This record gives sequence, structure tokens and C-alpha cells, in this order.
Amino acid sequence: MSKPIIVCSDLSFVYKDSKKPALKNVSFTISEGEFVGIIGPTGAGKSTLCWAINGVIPQIMQGKLKGSVEVKGKPSNKTPVDEISQIIGIVQQDAEAQLLMTDIEKEIVFPLENLSLPREEIHRRLEYVINLVNLDEERYRHPFYLSGGQKQRVAVAAALAMEPEVLILDEATSELDPVGAEEIHELAGRLKKEGKTIIMVEHNIDELAKHADRIIVMNQGEILRDGDAHEILTDVNFLQSLGIYPPQVTQTAFHLREAGWQFERLPLNLVEATQSISALRKSQ
Ligand SMILES: Nc1ncnc2c1ncn2[C@@H]1O[C@H](COP(=O)(O)OP(=O)(O)OP(=O)(O)O)[C@@H](O)[C@H]1O
Ligand SMILES: [Mg+2]
Repeated sequence: MSKPIIVCSDLSFVYKDSKKPALKNVSFTISEGEFVGIIGPTGAGKSTLCWAINGVIPQIMQGKLKGSVEVKGKPSNKTPVDEISQIIGIVQQDAEAQLLMTDIEKEIVFPLENLSLPREEIHRRLEYVINLVNLDEERYRHPFYLSGGQKQRVAVAAALAMEPEVLILDEATSELDPVGAEEIHELAGRLKKEGKTIIMVEHNIDELAKHADRIIVMNQGEILRDGDAHEILTDVNFLQSLGIYPPQVTQTAFHLREAGWQFERLPLNLVEATQSISALRKSQ
């Protein structure tokens, strides 16, 4: 068993000036190296949960919090946000709003200088992340001239330069075209292989299914399901009841099964679909 890194216990939160709880009795444990997808309709509390994990809630965005979140044993509501940001990196939907500097290199280096790291260490981290996100040749360009996908990759690089153990991607691909989105997902897959813990809030189930091991489904501030990714992402009736659409190949197989095709389990992608159909033909 790997070590727990985030422990959320009976967490509830009501934003200041609001009556409706944005989180209700949320409990789960995430262990080192897990890739957890969080899905749910708009307003479900996904972003609120991400902010409660990194301490922005309740330290910067205030409200009434009950229960607790512990990040490597430290309570996220009492540990300075700067300290948590060295354990948990977060990239959100609107990368542009997160980019403040005049070139990419400065964007990555500035937060590291604030940590008072030695010059050689800053250089080592810069070279590592800028190559990881494939922006080496763009390093002196102003973020303004980058594509949406490149901007998002800068935000990921800046987050990774802090060497966090956990990376949270909160709809980090939702404003990107399919190619840009795929680049971010591919990068998340590589980080998973390197052992990084990833939490990904994502509405593109096709992409999420590529790397997620576990899925947490939220609705109206509560966790409805928490379990194996394949099992949850192929539960067509359940997802559709929440307005979430499984991959088309899953939906097609679901309808074929209703028409009598006896798939052992529903496929999530074309490779699995081909395997399922071959297995059916062989058994006939
Ligand atoms: N700053 C805020 N002040 C008051 N209420 C807020 C604030 N931010 C979010 N909420 C409310 O909290 C609830 C959860 O919102 P949250 O943004 O966490 O949902 P979400 O699942 O991330 O939605 P989306 O898919 O649209 O990003 C919603 O009812 C929302 O209106
Ligand atoms: Mg959100």
C-alpha cells in the first residue's frame, strides 16, 4: 500500500455570504502515485474541493469550514498556502490569468527566486520543466504570442518547477482545442509514469479515461461515487443521469448490449472495443 498524501475527513464548506453548502461531508484518501479523476456537473463543488485541498479555502476564499483536509499530515486550513504550494501545484482553466511575466523563462523562474533557492538549483529546475513541456525554443517569447495550448503548458511548467508531489489540473484543458488538450493529457500521463500524484478535474471522459485509475463523482457538494475508473466511466445510465456523456464507443457498446450483444465489460476506447468484439466472435 502506498502512503496517503491527502486525507479529507467529513469536509463541509459554505462560502461567505452564501447559505448553500458548496461541499457536504466529503471524505476520501488519496495515496502517493494515484491518478484520480474528479467529474460532476457544473456547480458540483469540484473547484471548491481543489481549493480546500491547497488551503486557498478557507485562508484566501473565506467561509465556514467543518471537518478537515490534511496534506502530508499538515492541516490545509492552518498551514500557510505558500508552504502547501510546495507540495501541491494547481493549474486551472484560465492559464492566461495565471501568467504574469514578460517571457516564459521568467514565468517559471520568478516563483523559484521567491523561494530563495540557489542559482544552480533554479537553473536545473528551469531546464528540466521547460524541456518536459516542450517549450525550450519559445523560452524568451512573451506569453501573449503563445497558443492556448502553449500557455497552458507554461502554467503546468511553472507549477512543476516547484517540484510539488501532487499536481491538480482543474479543467486545465477545457479552453483548448483538441490538439492542445491532448498535449496536456499526454503530459499528465508521463507525470503519472514518473510517480507523481495527479488529481484531474475533467469533463472530457475520453481523455480522462486514458490515465485515471480512480474516479470521484460529485454532485451538489457531495461525493456520489468513488471507485475504479473503468467501472464508473462505463456506467452509462449513471453518468447520463448527471448529464455526463461517456465516450461514444462506450455508448455504442451499451446500446449493442441492450440489443443482445453479450460484452463481458463495456469498452472505453477503440482498442478495448476491438478486443470485446473479437472475443464475442470467438465465443460464437
Ligand atoms: N466565490 C464563491 N462565492 C460563493 N459561492 C461560490 C463561489 N464559488 C463557487 N460558489 C458556489 O459553490 C458551488 C460549487 O462551485 P464550484 O465552482 O466548486 O463547482 P464546480 O464543480 O467546480 O463547477 P464547474 O464545473 O462549473 O467548474 C456552486 O453552487 C457555486 O455557485
Ligand atoms: Mg470548477
